[in-house]
Amino acid sequence: MTDSPIELTETGMIVPLATGPAYFNFCWLRDACPSCIDPQTRERIFDVSALHDLPRAAAARIDGGELVVDWLGEDHVSRIPLSLLDTFATRGKPEDPADLPRRLWYADHAPAMTRLPQEAVLNDSETRARLLRALIEDGIAIVTDMADDEGSLARLVNAIGPITPSAEGLFFDVRVEIAPTNLAFTAGPLEMHTDLPGEEAAPGVQFLHCLENTVEGGRSLFLDGAAVANALYDEDPEAYRLLASHDIPFFYRHETWDYRAHQRVIETDPEGRVTGVTISQHLQDILDLPQELLDTYYPAFVKFIRMMQEERFLMRFRSTAGQCVIFDNHRIVHGREGYVADSGMRHLRGCYTDRGALRSAYRVLAQQGHTGASAPEPTLKSA
Ligand SMILES: [Fe+2]
Repeated sequence: MTDSPIELTETGMIVPLATGPAYFNFCWLRDACPSCIDPQTRERIFDVSALHDLPRAAAARIDGGELVVDWLGEDHVSRIPLSLLDTFATRGKPEDPADLPRRLWYADHAPAMTRLPQEAVLNDSETRARLLRALIEDGIAIVTDMADDEGSLARLVNAIGPITPSAEGLFFDVRVEIAPTNLAFTAGPLEMHTDLPGEEAAPGVQFLHCLENTVEGGRSLFLDGAAVANALYDEDPEAYRLLASHDIPFFYRHETWDYRAHQRVIETDPEGRVTGVTISQHLQDILDLPQELLDTYYPAFVKFIRMMQEERFLMRFRSTAGQCVIFDNHRIVHGREGYVADSGMRHLRGCYTDRGALRSAYRVLAQQGHTGASAPEPTLKSA
């Protein structure tokens, strides 16, 4: 706080905050009044458009830790916490416990992956927060010691969010099928991909519960798409720019469905940080970008796909029965080595929830004091 007075303007006011004077628009301030939120439903009960004129302050002062505003032509006084104004003045957005920086990882990540037993995830809030935090920061984690009953996977997912359906239904089984609807359901190698980009809202968080794996080969492959995208930015910024600025088509077609959607190969947030990638050569449609643009887009695209085959990014591990790998389907790119189909059984059951549900569950736990940050640092962390 400074001693300078609050300055009212035609449209807002300049408030002397501890971080310096900051301008706030009158409509924004009226909407930020805590009385606008119903304490029971926690929903907004004030509608700025219901006022005859746009709100305007008659007077404003600072009282303790609050900005007190008398509104012109309205029998209402707002008391807005200065901490809220400080947050918006410095961050431009509200505090969000789920807004955790991504921790990029590379080929040697397997020993450092967060591994937590299912029972503790289900019954202990701090353990559940550790799992959710790892999924936000690393984009991948493993739940071990899964119960082997029919409802085991659903119980785990529901501890995070509702199961979101895909064209395959609520669950899908990854094993060799006689008439497969997807290359995943064969014994062949599966190139690095994210799931179902042909769906308008491609699945957010994927669960792969290993029920059985006794075959020769078939190791699981994972990489951090955000790490590869950042490496592309460093090594070829123009290629990165092309992949981060054009949407390309994907599909998923069979007898009874014909999904089509456009996705951006490199996804970024409004601050320009990489949030994830979308890649799937087996579900990619014929590109519909202008032919001249393809002269530069294709080389960039091919370069990115080849980078995803580089050993420096690829983490390999063998899925074992009783483990469930959980990963952000918009960030973590996955695949599989081929395996010998008649050498044993390989059966994974999968399903999805969305990324919004993941962050929602984490915020609720963090607001209860469970941040998942108390976990000891993994001892085998790469340098
Ligand atoms: Fe997949």
